This record gives sequence, C-alpha cells and structure tokens, in this order.
Amino acid sequence: MAVFTAASFLFCLLCIRVTVAKYEPNWESIDSRPLPEWYDQAKFGIFIHWGVFSVPSFGSEWFWWYWQGQRREPYVTFMHKNYPPDFKYQDFAPHFTAEFFDAKEWMDIFAASGAKYIVLTTKHHEGFTLWGSETSWNWNAVDLGPKRDLVAEVASAVRAHSDLRLGLYHSLFEWFHPLFLQDAANHFATNRFALAKSLPELYELVLTYKPDVLWSDGDGDAPDKYWNSTGFLAWLYNDSPVRDTVVTNDRWGLGSICKHGGYYTCADRYQPGHLLPHKWENCMTIDTKSWGYRRNAPLADYLTIEEIVETLVETVSCGGNLLMNVGPTADGRIAPIFEERLRQIGRWLRVNGEGVYNSSAWRAQKDTVTSGVWYTSRPRQNAVFAFFLVWPTDGILLLGEPELAPGQTQQNQVVLVGHGPVKWEPAKPSGIRVFLPQLSISQMPCQWAWTLRLTGAK
Ligand SMILES: *[C@@H]1O[C@H](CO)[C@@H](O)[C@H](O)[C@H]1NC(C)=O
Ligand SMILES: *[C@@H]1O[C@H](CO)[C@@H](O)[C@H](O)[C@H]1NC(C)=O
Repeated sequence: MAVFTAASFLFCLLCIRVTVAKYEPNWESIDSRPLPEWYDQAKFGIFIHWGVFSVPSFGSEWFWWYWQGQRREPYVTFMHKNYPPDFKYQDFAPHFTAEFFDAKEWMDIFAASGAKYIVLTTKHHEGFTLWGSETSWNWNAVDLGPKRDLVAEVASAVRAHSDLRLGLYHSLFEWFHPLFLQDAANHFATNRFALAKSLPELYELVLTYKPDVLWSDGDGDAPDKYWNSTGFLAWLYNDSPVRDTVVTNDRWGLGSICKHGGYYTCADRYQPGHLLPHKWENCMTIDTKSWGYRRNAPLADYLTIEEIVETLVETVSCGGNLLMNVGPTADGRIAPIFEERLRQIGRWLRVNGEGVYNSSAWRAQKDTVTSGVWYTSRPRQNAVFAFFLVWPTDGILLLGEPELAPGQTQQNQVVLVGHGPVKWEPAKPSGIRVFLPQLSISQMPCQWAWTLRLTGAK
C-alpha cells in the first residue's frame, strides 16, 4: 500500500511538472498556445490612452516626440506661443491632476457600451507610469501629478463589474530613456534598459494587477531577443497568476507583429476586409486623428455612430475583435462626445448583440449582391446573422449568399432582431429576398444598422 502511494505520488509530481513547464522560450512553442476562449467571445473592448500627454492635449499622444524628438510643426509653434522658453515636457506632469477621475464612473460608461474588456495605457512611450512602479522613480502617477495609483483604481473598479475584464497596455521602449538610447547606440548588443526597466515593469504589472489582456507595444526597433520576449511569455503562460486566462497581442519585438505572440494587431486601425486564419484585433480611435485626448478636436474628427457600428460589424464578420479607443482628459473625465458614442454603441448592442458576442465567422463575410451587408454565425443555434447598414427604400433586401429551403417553420425562418419574423422568398439565381416590415422610426428596433437572424440558412 505504502509503495503504491509513493509511486502514485511520484507519478503525480511528474504530471504537474509536465503541465507547468508547458511552453518553452521560443516562438514555435509560444505561438502554439490556444487563445483562451473568453477573448474571441468578447468581441468588443475599450482602449484608454491616458498619461502626461493628456495635459498639453494637443496633436497626439506622441506630443513629446514630435515637439522635441522631431521638432515638428505645429508642436514647436504651440510650445513657443504658450509656454516659457525653458519649459520642459516634465513640467506638464504636475498638471496631470485627475481630480474628477472616478474609476467606477468610467466602468459604468464602459460597461454600458457593451464592451467586455478594457485596456489602459499603464505606460506609453513617454515612460510615465500610471502606477507607483518600482523602476520608475519620480516619473509616475503616485509621486507626481494625481499622487494616486491609477492602475490600482481602474483594476479594482473593473473587478467590481462582473461583465468586464482588465487589460493593461505597456510600451516596451521609451523615447528618451538614457539606458534605452545607450542600448540603441550599441545596436542592441547590450540590453540594460530591457533588464533594468521594461521586464521588471511587466512582471510587476502582471503580479500586482493580474490582467487578462497584456497589450504590448513600442519595440523601439529592437528585436524580441533584446526584450527577452519569449522568456517573459513562457513565464506568463506557465507560471504567472493569470496563465489560464491571459491573452497577449503580437507586438513583442521588431518583426513579431502580425506573426508571433497571441492575437494579431498587424497595424493600427487594421481592417483586412476578409477572414483571417488567425485571431486578430482592430484597435482604432473614436477621434480619428489621435489616441490621446485633444482639446481642439472638431466634431468632424470624431466617428459618427453609424461609422462605429459599421466598423464593428465588419471587424467581427472577418473574425476580429474591436478595441475602440477613448482619450480621457488630464483632470480625469471621459468627454461627453466619447460618452455619447459609447452609450450609443451599447444601445445598439443590447438589441443586436446576439449576432456579435460569441459569434463565429460564417462561410461568407459580406454579401455579394447587396453592399453593406456583413455576416456572422452561431452554429449551435443553427443561425446566420446578416447585419445591414442601409434600410432599402422599397423595403426589399436582396441577399445573394444565404440559401433557405422554402416554407416558414421554426427551423427555417428570417427574424428582424428586436422585432420578429419577416416574410421572405427564394431569389434567382441564388439567395433570398427579404420583405422588411413598414416601421415608423419609433417602431424600429434600433436606428443605425439592423440584424436579420436566418435560421437554417446554408
Ligand atoms: C529571459 O528568458 C529566459 C529564458 O529564455 C529566462 O530564463 C529568464 O528568466 C528571462 N529573464 C527575464 C529578466 O525575464
Ligand atoms: C458566451 O459564451 C460563454 C461560454 O459559453 C458564456 O459564459 C457567455 O455568457 C456567453 N456570452 C454571451 C454574451 O452570450
């Protein structure tokens, strides 16, 4: 008996070892990890770009680099006209006050948008950390500006919302960090900055805040070897407290984008227009010109709700998630224009979400006959969803792709989501003709795009 127990104990230790050391520090092994399912089901997240760049709130979150790295217009003139000659970028930090910041209010708005995760910039390329980082002495939100741990406040507010998951953005490189500049001058033959700054920050973020998304960015043209990316990711996937739930993106060193890591981002505002074989994310902005808040942005620079709905359905049809960015103000507010767009997309998703969340790509992504029609499917419900962006003037919508057997039954029908079953007939040479009901504006299930649920469509 005792022998048997010892043997099974040994055997068990062996299985634990095998399970724990699953991923090795090379791309082949790291890339073989299946993405945790929650991420594909979630479909929609909110990106938040917030930092010292929110103080000048002019041009873009790349303000410091454009002003002093490149001496670009209109940044140089803006500084010349409005600030004393010896004013440094660091002097903006005390004005990052966050006095109106209430993480719970933010999360209420984000949850109302229908998003299932948020991603906060914990450190952008300026190097300012929104938490009291051990390796960011005097250039962080606890010692300067708000004097609060903003990441901690966001993390605990996210946890209070059962519908939301926490994502953290982190820039590997920093434009002006002396150690990084020295490593770059050495053509990355040395990696003092990665070892002393970036990697400790990444471990600290994961261990302290336990994010479900780790959104890496800013390789600074240094290869993944310089950043020790596969070593870090092997730890993240094998041994970190979030190893079962965490997802990451593909920005882990020069050349890794669209090729290695977790899901692909490929480029900012990436929209391939066709189905990709690998899970991907379209990160984009409501303010079309900037990720950080811009005080002087005119209304025309913001996406309309119609454009946002279109971007969402196109992205999801092609197998992507949408990560839509808002830039809060330096005093901690989500400006009403962002709040309105978020609440609008949430209203739309409350009606049409059954075709979005937990959906899969269908065999066709967009209709071949009528433009502005995008498809998703939910195989377990035997359902195909057709989103249409334009309500036809004659009330007849021709869909070239789906085939339905004639006759209306529960297993074989077309429903206008949020309204009810609608009439249809087979069309020639293929597809179906849907007869939309005559509805007044107030009877419409929503205002900006509509969804048909086709049960039994082939
Ligand atoms: C770098 O990666 C190696 C594995 O390749 C790992 O053993 C080591 O701990 C990593 N170092 C850091 C600082 O992440
Ligand atoms: C998606 O599927 C998961 C797992 O089956 C489930 O827990 C979740 O509630 C679903 N979400 C929606 C919005 O249907």
